[in-house]
Amino acid sequence: MALSPPERIWWKPLNRAERLWVSVAAIFLLALFATMPLWHVFGKQHTPGESYRVDPASFRETTSAFINSYQVRTEGTLPVVRPPEGDVYLMAYRFAWSPILELQAGKTYRLHISSTDVNHGFSLQPVNMNFQVVPGYDLVLTITPPQPGVYTLICNQYCGLGHQLMSGKIIVRG
Ligand code: CUA
Repeated sequence: MALSPPERIWWKPLNRAERLWVSVAAIFLLALFATMPLWHVFGKQHTPGESYRVDPASFRETTSAFINSYQVRTEGTLPVVRPPEGDVYLMAYRFAWSPILELQAGKTYRLHISSTDVNHGFSLQPVNMNFQVVPGYDLVLTITPPQPGVYTLICNQYCGLGHQLMSGKIIVRG
């Protein structure tokens, strides 16, 4: 049996209460939408980074050359480097962050981060800065560490069986 056509258009007439609630929802939606660009411009939690294509093998070479130039000691199996202001490199791979960077508070660095294997998640604690680290992309963050301290680096993107062991360190000297 065929259904008979509806007798009226379902939303007509629009009663007062419905119109009011649809308007309230629309205004709320637009306000939330506006906060996205506003947070980007005025919020402190968005660090605008730059990103470039990079070949994982050449990123590994650049990082090795950087380590060779500025290594000051070794902690466990990881090299510790104390570079001058400017370009510094951090390589993510299963399951480590290399090298350990020793930076100077108040100086400005261009921190290049990339992965040589799979996706990793850069998470700097306790400041809680979080970035995706993707093989093939060089993420460049311009940073000026404000105060001395030892910052822990963890991986917050599941990357394999040793994911929970993947921690690193950034040391900021006064
Ligand atoms: Cu690297 Cu999880």
